[in-house]
Amino acid sequence: MRIGILTSGGDCPGLNAVIRGAVLKGITVHGLEFAGFRDGWRGVVEGDVVDLPRTSVRGISKQGGTILGTSRTNPFGGNGGAEAIRSQLERRGIDGIIAIGGEGTLAAAHRLSGAGLKIVGVPKTVDNDLDATDYTFGFDTAVQIATEAIDRLRTTGESHHRVMVAEVMGRHAGWIALHAGMAAGAHAILIPEQQVSLDQVTEWVTDAHKRGRAPLVVVAEGFIPEGQDAPHSALGLDAFGRPRLGGIAEQLAPELEARTGFETRATVLGHIQRGGVPSAFDRVLATRLGMAAADSVAAGSWGTMVSLRGTDVVHVDFQRALGRLKTVPQHRYDEALTLFG
Ligand code: F6P
Repeated sequence: MRIGILTSGGDCPGLNAVIRGAVLKGITVHGLEFAGFRDGWRGVVEGDVVDLPRTSVRGISKQGGTILGTSRTNPFGGNGGAEAIRSQLERRGIDGIIAIGGEGTLAAAHRLSGAGLKIVGVPKTVDNDLDATDYTFGFDTAVQIATEAIDRLRTTGESHHRVMVAEVMGRHAGWIALHAGMAAGAHAILIPEQQVSLDQVTEWVTDAHKRGRAPLVVVAEGFIPEGQDAPHSALGLDAFGRPRLGGIAEQLAPELEARTGFETRATVLGHIQRGGVPSAFDRVLATRLGMAAADSVAAGSWGTMVSLRGTDVVHVDFQRALGRLKTVPQHRYDEALTLFG
């Protein structure tokens, strides 16, 4: 059986480890053959395919990004659709697909699987906001990068007696902000799930300053201050119809400076959080998910995705796994709140 692998949506550290895990186990244990689609669903729709022999995955688990490339192409748009994809797969001699992607990719995989295509999914997002799995690979690396950056902001903030505001990724959920903020000892953590007023942030900053600290504020890109109902950014929509995020730190910094009288600087970490080598945790998780995806293929468990539950990798139906966002629960935010005082 020949299986095509694709990586779709925003990249994140660990994608190559998934590919390697699937290819190594698929070839050596299950006798499968592999091909890779270039740039996610675009490669599927256009039949842009490359062979993936064992040698092609040698040493790649430590490489950032994805050797296959990625895109946000919708497989149902343009020349796509289930029938077009079915005939592309037949033409390329591909019997089934391993789709590595986030909610959008997996929802498309579910829909294609409903149309009779043989697909197995692997969940992916640095944001860690997929309810289908306890942790997504890439998240640990992103938290590590953000923590190191915030630690660095702390020392320059302390030297200049400034307030430092660090913006991290997290469009719908504040997992990166929560974990990096806790790890770095932030004096305020602001996430999309929690409505916090600017008065409250000002109080946290002022209190930290009174204790002789250089106040450190960590804000997730999707945070909306209490009283504001629109997304904070006036940057409009991106090509995919999503509000362009990025900029909440730049909005907060002058506001806090005006309210507190303390000099304040903003730093947006942005895509740095998605680049570079994956952490050991992410390499192991991603490798295990890739191997489990090869097992699903060999078992003919189409229409399912692999998922981390506790410390075990399990197989779940798309139907049961998708559609729910995993946001930061109140008790996790309350733990962080205790540390701000
Ligand atoms: O979903 C992952 C994510 O990194 C979000 O945190 C962020 O809002 C978005 O992707 C950025 O997307 P792009 O790489 O398309 O700018």
